[in-house]
Amino acid sequence: MKGVMLAGGSGTRLRPITHSMAKQLVPVANRPILHYGLAHMAEAGIDEVCIIISPETGDDIRRSVGDGAAFGLEVTYVVQDAPRGLAHALACAMPWADGDDVLMYLGDNLVRDGLVDIVADFSTSRPNCQILLTRVDDPSSFGVAELSDTGAVERLVEKPSSPRSDLALVGVYLFDQTITGALEEIRPSARAELEITDAIQWLVDAGHRVDASIVRGWWKDTGRKEDLLHANQLVLRDLAEDVRGDVIGGQVRGSVQVDEGARVVDCDITGPVVIGRQADLRRCTIGPNTSIAAKCQLRDAHVEDSILMEDTRVDGWRLRSSLLGRSTRLGGSAPERFVELTLGEHSRIIGQ
Ligand code: G1P
Repeated sequence: MKGVMLAGGSGTRLRPITHSMAKQLVPVANRPILHYGLAHMAEAGIDEVCIIISPETGDDIRRSVGDGAAFGLEVTYVVQDAPRGLAHALACAMPWADGDDVLMYLGDNLVRDGLVDIVADFSTSRPNCQILLTRVDDPSSFGVAELSDTGAVERLVEKPSSPRSDLALVGVYLFDQTITGALEEIRPSARAELEITDAIQWLVDAGHRVDASIVRGWWKDTGRKEDLLHANQLVLRDLAEDVRGDVIGGQVRGSVQVDEGARVVDCDITGPVVIGRQADLRRCTIGPNTSIAAKCQLRDAHVEDSILMEDTRVDGWRLRSSLLGRSTRLGGSAPERFVELTLGEHSRIIGQ
């Protein structure tokens, strides 16, 4: 089986962060989201992966993943000229897949339990397509599956306004080459995209076998800030305590990771928290559920439930549920209360 990783799209729901970076490279627990999916593919025994990239952010994805050797993968890149839908992205990879089974993975998805079981299920029971489903509170934000009493897939609808089930399609799909016919036949949807849900519906209507299984561990689509912060919390929850940097004075509770070269002086840290390489924190209160990336400099700051990307500098501010892009500066006289911020790269706020 080969892997097709979708890492294009425009990430509109994560603006302003995605004005300057690919949504798949936003870090969760200080690691780009995309890297989790690639590692899961390798773990499931997939060794060749085609990454679909966009003209806008493709170079950043290439720089971040390289030739795939760091993951034990052989990676090929294919450019999708415009966001024409997930089925179109898959079609771009089909010549490369050359008749092999494919696992398609949406690069902004995180699946806690990985892909080992699902790949094994597919290889043993050999349906034409296997989809993963999970129950959600807001099905109209997703592709939704309607199953028969016996669990057979009857209907798939992309973002229905009146969903008839709460089973959302997770961004992991397995196909044999039957999907090629569907990709040729389907037409653009109302939002002018070739929808993967329509392609799978085509398989169902043509009498091909589409199996569905329910995801056991958690799953997150990190397309929105709230989901991203929640994903950060879920990944951090599994973090092992590992302090390699210098922690001097202060207090550390719960599972905390401090990477090499980081300095944490007179801080009160409540895990789960991860602090990246060469970060420098003094007199701060951090956590829980917080990721501070490499080279951040924090002084007298209080940060909870947040993600701070590389090289961010915060003096005296109190942040909650915030997402700060690379090289952000918060200084001057800080607001007295906690604030909740989403700031793109190189933003600068100096209180007077
Ligand atoms: C896409 C799919 C949708 C699926 C979701 C999972 O939606 O179109 O069917 O449920 O991914 O993440 P998007 O997030 O691109 O709007």
